[in-house]
Amino acid sequence: MKVLTIVGARPQFIKAAVVSRELRKEYEEILVHTGQHYDYNMSDVFFKELDIPDPDYNLGISGGSHGKMTGEMLIAIEDVLLKEQPDAVLLYGDTNSTMAGALAAVKLHIPVVHVEAGNRLGTLDNPEEVNRIVTDHVSSLKLCCTESALEFLKKEGISQNAYVVGDPMYDAFKYYSEKVGDDIPEKLVGFDGETIELPQEFYYMTCHREENTGTDEVLTEILDAMETLDKKCIYPVHPRNKNRVKKLMEEKGYTNTIVCEPVGYLMSVYLVNHSKKVITDSGGLQREAFFAEKQCVTIFDYVVWPETMIDDRNQLAKADKEDILRKLAKKQKIKENDAFGDGQSAVKIIKHIDEYIGRSKR
Ligand code: UD1
Ligand code: UDP
Repeated sequence: MKVLTIVGARPQFIKAAVVSRELRKEYEEILVHTGQHYDYNMSDVFFKELDIPDPDYNLGISGGSHGKMTGEMLIAIEDVLLKEQPDAVLLYGDTNSTMAGALAAVKLHIPVVHVEAGNRLGTLDNPEEVNRIVTDHVSSLKLCCTESALEFLKKEGISQNAYVVGDPMYDAFKYYSEKVGDDIPEKLVGFDGETIELPQEFYYMTCHREENTGTDEVLTEILDAMETLDKKCIYPVHPRNKNRVKKLMEEKGYTNTIVCEPVGYLMSVYLVNHSKKVITDSGGLQREAFFAEKQCVTIFDYVVWPETMIDDRNQLAKADKEDILRKLAKKQKIKENDAFGDGQSAVKIIKHIDEYIGRSKR
């Protein structure tokens, strides 16, 4: 059986790393990289650190408006599917690469397997929500990370062939946390290529969404909050935000935030595990804070991962200095919790692919 996997963005490389390893024990896998993320530290570093095989195809499509990017991907993916004739297409998450892959496959009557199915915010203003809804509705097999995601699929009447398998981000985080341990994997690299030493104690922040970084005013609120913290804040900056962050750092003279280039996955795992607390707008990082039993403040208007909010371990904050600081100051009790599975979701994902698609091919 031949499975064609489509990835394109940083979080998908991490999920595919653990699932592809398992998949390739039984099946032929064709790996397609759309090119959505393309800088060394947004793409290649993950392939290198996580031993992901080189993509069979790199479509080189990135940037531009959502419609342009998705449209170009759709055309290019269709060509690959016609050539490869896979038995199934495997997709992750909610990026433009995900939705383009889903549409291209379903129009060719190729079964779509969606990992990270079912998450919902409840607003179409969020670009990822559109990608999730479209992908889930055309998928043959819907594999959810959590029970709450399955509930959303039930509400939409599309829970046939939908299963909770746990979160491959947890598989990866568990495995690589053990591997990394207490050794700092790499030095931080500043915007001008300079090396930055990691302080003993720190907060870890990532913040890249349009809502939080699209204007000087909103990003200033966030950086103002970081400026008052009792320890330094490490902020690896997504390339889309680099110019604005650089400008504000210079204009405002912030000293408590250490800005740097995006870090590799191993370093990110280290930073989560060794931080005092996590501040983020990333879907991945808020779960990783949960896995590491760290308190997290998520600067976003919507709950993306309800299971992380238990006991206020993850709290939403507005992009407002006082609100962020108020939420960060709150003390949380942290208890063990297995809402994201046991670190073996990849095995379950392959089992479901096998049952759904493999059976008919034997
Ligand atoms: C995408 C996903 C988002 C996910 C994020 C992970 C969609 C709609 N959104 O958002 O869900 O949280 O990836 O990081 O797919 N750029 C570079 N170098 C790169 C990659 C991007 O310079 O390697 C710049 C380009 O100017 C690009 C911009 O960043 O136009 C935005 O990149 P894009 O992939 O469109 O969206 P993300 O914000 O990364
Ligand atoms: N990450 C990384 N280096 C960074 C920032 C993030 O390796 O500089 C990892 C981290 O594990 C995170 C994942 O990339 O969970 C996905 O991050 P991102 O915020 O880009 O995507 P999202 O989860 O919001 O879709």
